[in-house]
Amino acid sequence: MAYDALFEPYSRGNLTTEHRIALAPLTRNRAVGTVPGDINAEYYAQRADAAFVISEGTHPAAIGQGYYDVAGLHNDEQQAGWAKVADAVAKAGNGKLVIQLMHAGRVAHPYYTGGATPVAPSAVTPEGGTWTPDGEQAFVEPREIATDELQSVKQEFVDAAKRAVAAGAYGVELHAANGYLLHQFLAENTNKRTDGYGTDVAGRIRFVVEVTNAVVEAIGAERTAIRLSPGHPFNDIAEQDPKATYEALLAELAKHDLLYVHVLDTAPYVDYAPLEQARSIFPGTLVINEGFSEEFDVQGANDLIAAGKADFVAYGRRFLANPDLPERLRTGADLNEPDESTFYSRGPKGYTDYPALDTAASQS
Ligand SMILES: Cc1cc2nc3c(=O)[nH]c(=O)nc-3n(C[C@H](O)[C@H](O)[C@H](O)COP(=O)(O)O)c2cc1C
Repeated sequence: MAYDALFEPYSRGNLTTEHRIALAPLTRNRAVGTVPGDINAEYYAQRADAAFVISEGTHPAAIGQGYYDVAGLHNDEQQAGWAKVADAVAKAGNGKLVIQLMHAGRVAHPYYTGGATPVAPSAVTPEGGTWTPDGEQAFVEPREIATDELQSVKQEFVDAAKRAVAAGAYGVELHAANGYLLHQFLAENTNKRTDGYGTDVAGRIRFVVEVTNAVVEAIGAERTAIRLSPGHPFNDIAEQDPKATYEALLAELAKHDLLYVHVLDTAPYVDYAPLEQARSIFPGTLVINEGFSEEFDVQGANDLIAAGKADFVAYGRRFLANPDLPERLRTGADLNEPDESTFYSRGPKGYTDYPALDTAASQS
């Protein structure tokens, strides 16, 4: 078999999976307002053979909503929607649903937050704008989160994590990558705080560590994961010394046997090897994603896992276009091509209508 390592079962503590292929988190703008609906349950159920069915970025508070028609997880209706998704995934396969908690911070927009000013570590306006159904809207200057307010922001993550478990998800992935709120605490250009939550490496990683610890305390380390994109400039992030920042952060994360640490391969943007750094400092389960590196094909991922450099690979675009991606890779079948024009569009087209192998065969 071409990709033997991808199909080695995995076991660590109570976690067991049949293979090493995860669905990467993908915002698809198909929620019903901010509530997952039947179409979302169908989409995730189609991909329920992923080892981890990592959800779209899901805001833990209304102020953290970054896009239109994306799911939240801060009220009962949203929780019931996620319960529907969890149920559909459990019925369809063995994949573990992991809800990605994504607070957009300064890249949220009043357009989505009912007019409220987005919050951030510091009042630094991002370059550019956000796309809305009414066209692009410039980002606004965010409001700095007061020191005594940090506790309630942390609590929002904890409450959403508890709701995720109550809805039947296996766990949560804290989104500390790609320039959203937690990443904004890590980066020098977005964190100008002088209250112990900024200034130096220890200060900048502090809030991310505190949120992780609080979520671990609430739902257990074996249900808590985190995503990192060291040094990646997406959403106007500029990290001066990502090697030092992530070395310190990973050392703190290594105090827990987390569900996993998920690292984007940001090697093109940094002068060190982020995957190797994560592996050497964090001894637990490591999920990798090619991130923005173009050189990370299926054989490459297989070889990284074979070499013990990671435990899982997460696929985004390949998985959105191939609901049965693990089966296709296992059998060496051709892959459907992703259609970029429907990544963020509405309805089933480009969402739930990519054919699986059996439907593809019966159509030809
Ligand atoms: C349509 C789309 C939506 C995405 N949404 C998210 C998201 O909600 N959260 C996140 O962490 N990354 C998101 N990403 C990044 C992907 O998880 C992944 O890192 C990226 O697509 C590179 O991996 P790939 O080559 O396997 O697609 C998104 C990417 C795409 C293409």
